[in-house]
This record gives sequence, C-alpha cells and structure tokens, in this order.
Amino acid sequence: MLNTDDKKDPRIEFAKSIEKVVIFVVGFFKELYLGVRHGLIPWGLCGIFSILGNIGYAAHVDRSLFRLLHLGKIYPTKPLWVLLNWAIWAFSGFWAWALFQMGFKQYRTRELHRVFSEAGLKSSTGRLPTLVFEKTFDELTQMLRVTIAGNTLEKFKAARAGIESNMGIFIDDFRENRKRGTIDIIFSKNPMPRNVELANVALLPPCKFLVGETRASIIKADIRRVPHLLIAGQTGGGKSSFLRQFITTHLLNCKNSQFILIDLKEGLESHLFEGIPDVAVYENVESACKRLGEYSGELPRRLNAIKEANCLDFDSFCARPGHDPETDPKREFIVVDEAAELFLSSDRTKVSEAQQARRVLSDIARRGRAAGVHLIISTQRPDSRSLDPQVKANLPGVLCFQMANDASSIAVLGNGRGTELPPYPGRGIWKVGAEMLELQTPFLSHDAAVSLLAPLKKSSQQSDQADQPEQKVQ
Ligand SMILES: Nc1ncnc2c1ncn2[C@@H]1O[C@H](COP(=O)(O)OP(=O)(O)OP(=O)(O)O)[C@@H](O)[C@H]1O
Ligand SMILES: [Mg+2]
Repeated sequence: MLNTDDKKDPRIEFAKSIEKVVIFVVGFFKELYLGVRHGLIPWGLCGIFSILGNIGYAAHVDRSLFRLLHLGKIYPTKPLWVLLNWAIWAFSGFWAWALFQMGFKQYRTRELHRVFSEAGLKSSTGRLPTLVFEKTFDELTQMLRVTIAGNTLEKFKAARAGIESNMGIFIDDFRENRKRGTIDIIFSKNPMPRNVELANVALLPPCKFLVGETRASIIKADIRRVPHLLIAGQTGGGKSSFLRQFITTHLLNCKNSQFILIDLKEGLESHLFEGIPDVAVYENVESACKRLGEYSGELPRRLNAIKEANCLDFDSFCARPGHDPETDPKREFIVVDEAAELFLSSDRTKVSEAQQARRVLSDIARRGRAAGVHLIISTQRPDSRSLDPQVKANLPGVLCFQMANDASSIAVLGNGRGTELPPYPGRGIWKVGAEMLELQTPFLSHDAAVSLLAPLKKSSQQSDQADQPEQKVQ
C-alpha cells in the first residue's frame, strides 16, 4: 500500500494511478471470468449488443467517434491497435456487462457491509465479508458468495436472523468453502416449506400426483404427461419416502392400475403394500430380473392390442367406446428402488438375466408411454455404470435430491444444483424439459400410509381369499 503522506510526489502519484488501473483491469477480467465460470453472463443480451457493435464497426462508427472526440490523429492504424479496436467493438456486449457488474458489485458490497456489520460479522481486525458474486438459480432462489473475512461458519449461522431481517430474505443454507475462503448464502424472498404433508390424496384427480411445494406454489404432475421418472439423490435425501407417497397416491386414485415394485434395499417398506390387489413386490435382483425378463413379451403384446383397436396410444385406447377395464390391459407402474443394485449386479451367473432386464427397462423407457407402462427409477448413483444411459435419457421427469458431488448432479440435472441444495430430507429439484424448480416433496408417514391403504387391503380380503393377485416373490 502506498503512503498518503507522499501525495505530492509525482512518482508516487504515478504509481498510485498505475495501481488503480491494474486494480480496475484485474477486476474487469475477474468479472468476465466469474461470469463464464458460474454461468452469470446473459449470453443472449451480450450477443445482441456485440452484433450491434460489429455492425457499428463495419459502418466505421468507430472512426466517426474518434473524429467527434477530436482524436482522429490517434485513430489506430498499426495492426495490434486495429485488432484491439476491433475486439472492443466486436465483443462490446461482454465488456459492457463486465463494467456494469463492477459498478453493481460496488453498490451491493456497500449495502452488504452495512448488513453484515449490523449482524455482528465484523472480524477482530475490522474486516467485513465482501461480495464475490451473486447468482440466481431460479426466479425464487438466489445465492450470494462472500468472503469469510476472518469469521467462522458458526458466526454466519448465528447471524442468520440479523441478515434475514435486514435484507428481508429467508436463508436456506450457509455453505463454507475453506479452500477458497468463501461462504455461499442460499436464500429467497419467500420461505420454503420445511414439511409438506400429503394431506388429502383423494383431492388429486386420477393419474395426478403431488411433486412438492415450491416457495410460491404447489407442483402437481400428471403421469400421462410425464410418463417416466428418475429419482436421484444421496442417502437420506428422501427417494424411498417419495416413492412411498407416489405409489400410495396412484394406488388410491389411479383405478385399473397394476404395480411391479422392485425394492432392492427394503427402502419402500414393501410390507405396506402386501395384500393389495395388482401389486407384486420383488425384493431381490434375481426375482426382479426374472420378472422383467418376462415383461419383454408383455410390452409388444400391449402395443399390438392398442394398434389392433386402431388407437394411437394407451390413453386413447382406454377412452375408446368398447373399453373393458376388466379384460383390457391395465396401466402399469414399474417402480425400481435403487436401480444401481440391478445395473451393478456382480453375480456372474446372473449376468445374462441382468442384461435382459436392462434391455427391457430401456425398451419400456423408450416405448412404454404409448403402452401405458410407466417406469419410476430411483438411484443414489446416476453415473453411466450404475444406470443405463439409454434408460436415463428416456426418463422425462427428474426429481433430484441433494447430491454428494457435482459429477452426480451434472449427470442428473446437467448442472451442479443438486450439490447446492440444503441438506434437508425431501428438498429437491424437479426438472421436466429445461425447467427446474426447487421444492419440498410431500411426506407421507408410515402410519398415515397404513391407514390410507387399509381399505384396499380389506376389500381384497373380502373379495376372494382364494384368488390372490398380490404376490411377494423372494
Ligand atoms: N419429504 C420429506 N419431508 C420430511 N422428511 C423426509 C422427507 N423425505 C424423507 N424424509 C426423512 O428422511 C428420511 C430418509 O428418507 P428416505 O429413506 O426416503 O431416503 P433415501 O433417499 O431413500 O435414502 P437411501 O438412499 O439411503 O435409501 C426418512 O426416514 C424421513 O424421516
Ligand atoms: Mg431409499
């Protein structure tokens, strides 16, 4: 740092000016780097500005500008300066964005310094956390990355209420990165519900299910529109709990459906579904592979039946005048809890069965919608070894709970948002197409599921004891 007493010394003044220029240039390129690295740059807008810049350059607006400013004599003519002049015009949108960011960051930093100071985040040496960058995840969720500035994660957590009330926000989580010396503050203007009860399943129309609650609305989906689902996340994220309420909802609301439940980690608490008609549970890889192998003939049969009835797909097949719910194929749900167990089957003697099962799953993912067959796959490990890429590519609905690392999150969502989720069970990202929504999934307790499913079990017991459609295959 330069001494202020030496103000009048021209050499010191010159050095100060150089220092300012260097700080400015470094700051400028740092903004561009952060913009590219964290996807902050509005490429479309910057692109449009840059195209205008290019047009201006082609129309010699640059030359006119130099003349207008009486700088015609220094108009660049040497190759290097010509190139520099062109680069300024050709990428003008991006330069303008970086300049705007620098200004905006100064303004935000001033505001944040006030907030952090009032929240007690001044270090013993008087330092305050400084803004590194700000990122918008979706229209409701944002992140601030600030320097830790001599504080601790615990100190930030203790300052939560102060920051929240000062900024009028709700903080989801603080994430420390010791290597970088930063803290990510994930927040929103709206609170995220911590617990979403699956209140009244009967209020949902047939084939619809509750995905969860965002900060602003309740998200429902229709299995006819989003026919297959991938549910991914690290252990304890809420995959099996989601499946439990999903299966219960469809059992109660989606009449004329049947279920193949492949519960390879006993996460579904399959005894819940025992005794319910049209539910078959498979609890080991061998029996699951066998059942899926048999299914390879079922899919073409279903598609043939639909074709012979001159229908386009299963929905029009069910809506046709002569539809007989008793004899016609039923809507089928194939639910696999922990697909990696199936895909990573190491039993060498069962390799061919496992391969056949994978082929069937891939076929169902590709053609199942038209046949009224839905594939719901949950996995902790979404990598290409643990989950067939062809299957994954054909699952249009994705529910991603917190992920262990960026690679897993990218494999599921195409970005790192899965790792940025706060560590609350049930907190996930719902992705259909390009749209991603952060939400809290509904929770159906074991006891609530037992009482909701009891009538189904009773009616099956009353109907015919001898004829047992439900089977549990060990
Ligand atoms: N939506 C939710 N709301 C509140 N709590 C939840 C929710 N989902 C799950 N939980 C809690 O988290 C615990 C773990 O959930 P769950 O067993 O579904 O995780 P998982 O992702 O299946 O884990 P694993 O991969 O180890 O099987 C549950 O027992 C429950 O207490
Ligand atoms: Mg589980």
